Amino acid sequence: MSTTVEETLVLVKPDGVARNLTGEILRRIEAKGYSLVDVKLVQADRTLLTQHYAEHEGKPFFGPLVEFMESGPIVAFRVAGNRVIEGFRSLAGTTDPSKAAPGTIRGDLGRDWGVAVQQNLVHGSDSPESAARELALWFD
Ligand code: TYD
Ligand code: MG
Repeated sequence: MSTTVEETLVLVKPDGVARNLTGEILRRIEAKGYSLVDVKLVQADRTLLTQHYAEHEGKPFFGPLVEFMESGPIVAFRVAGNRVIEGFRSLAGTTDPSKAAPGTIRGDLGRDWGVAVQQNLVHGSDSPESAARELALWFD
């Protein structure tokens, strides 16, 4: 099997930070064998979030999503590993915590009742192009 070392952006969203799950999320990333390259605590503003979620601008959930992401601190991780971009997406589980598989971050830890779907604990870049763009936004 060939090795493709990549870097990806992981965000622990405001719900994850507020619920004290940052350590548990990092534990899962490291247990999988991925490495933490850089980390920061960020109070994101609207400009950063609009750039980050540019692909979703104009969709009905965009406003509530940005508002939620502004509601408290976010922890940003730069993570490296073999095929980590797709690998972290698998670790995170599908977008809606009520549909995410057991064993995934969203499936195990996500609240699936009484909260909106944007409160799904983590963000992970979805392609090499997204990872490069998002890492530049959050870390450079
Ligand atoms: P998306 O990029 O589709 O999901 P993912 O985070 O799994 O890559 O959407 C970005 C975020 O927007 C998602 O994490 C939660 C929120 N969202 C909604 O609130 N409602 C929706 O219908 C969708 C698709 C996403
Ligand atoms: Mg996405």
